[in-house]
Amino acid sequence: MEDKLKQLEQDFQAALKGINTPEALKELENEYLGKKGKLKAILWGIKDLSIEEKKTIGVAANELRDSFTSALAGAEADIESAYYKEIEAGQAIDVTIGYPSKNRGHKHPLSHTTELLEDIFISLGFKVEDGPQIEDEEHNFDKLNIPHNHPARDVWDTFWISDDINKDKSIGERLLLRTHTSPVQIRTMMSQELPIKIIVPGRVYRYEQEDARHTCNFYQLEGLVVGEGVTFGDLKWTLDTVMKDLLGEKTEVRFRPSIFPFTEPSAEVDVSCQICSGSGEKNKKRCSMCSGTGWVELLGSGMVHPKVLEYCGIDSTKYSGFAFGMGIDRIAAQRFGVSSSRMFYQNKLKLNEQF
Ligand code: PHE
Repeated sequence: MEDKLKQLEQDFQAALKGINTPEALKELENEYLGKKGKLKAILWGIKDLSIEEKKTIGVAANELRDSFTSALAGAEADIESAYYKEIEAGQAIDVTIGYPSKNRGHKHPLSHTTELLEDIFISLGFKVEDGPQIEDEEHNFDKLNIPHNHPARDVWDTFWISDDINKDKSIGERLLLRTHTSPVQIRTMMSQELPIKIIVPGRVYRYEQEDARHTCNFYQLEGLVVGEGVTFGDLKWTLDTVMKDLLGEKTEVRFRPSIFPFTEPSAEVDVSCQICSGSGEKNKKRCSMCSGTGWVELLGSGMVHPKVLEYCGIDSTKYSGFAFGMGIDRIAAQRFGVSSSRMFYQNKLKLNEQF
């Protein structure tokens, strides 16, 4: 009997040496330790032995079972680690190493332009503010001197938030997607100490027919300066300086009288078209960016209307201010020579990667 056990052990060890897959290991385990395995067969024979032999053989058989079990576990661990070593060697990845990819990410031209503008304004002492894109009617219209039912509201084709959400709200409280960044003027004047000198870059929404210069959401940059003795001359100097800094010294800036309910007097500001250098013609065709005029309208501006100051609790006999709102998309199109600002929203890498 003892010999049988010895033989079994030798056979087992020899078989184990040749094994290198988990499946073969499982088979070996069944062959020796399974219900119908070789060790079990020996144990069945124990009952026919003498009491003395039963003791020694029984103990020896149990020891053998334990040694098989631990040898199998050891082999399993070896197989597993060999498996991972092979993977490591085959797919060696050093996650700490630098990788010179051809497709490095970069800023979208609109983010890039926003940051350029922020840098210029910050250098002139402006602070950057932010405001909600879902606005209420009071901030987007009423406090900007655009009352309910006033025809001026038609200028800002509005996406209203659906009636379900709005149903308990009264006039002035109804919600909308802000049509311009001007409501942040109101929020700032109502919450901050004078003097105020801020810019507000951000996304705005209009229910528009889309063409080369119009998209139903776009980016604006609002500016507001309020304090004692602020004049229209300050407004002109600021915008002239910023546009020349942004688009080049040769850029011409012109002011045209205009009307906005929240500024008085108001002016629209054009710059000489960068696409056709102000000539109105590009490749012998009418320039599509400026419709052949040589000028591109980039801004609305003016002196803050005294009524708006008063709505915000500011004494309009003591303080004055100027405000402006520019289209970041159009500025980006001008700066990068892109003929349609709608292209910025088409997510074509071929376009975006050029900047
Ligand atoms: N909010 C105006 C618009 O969206 C622009 C503007 C801002 C005009 C500030 C004057 C002063 O058209």
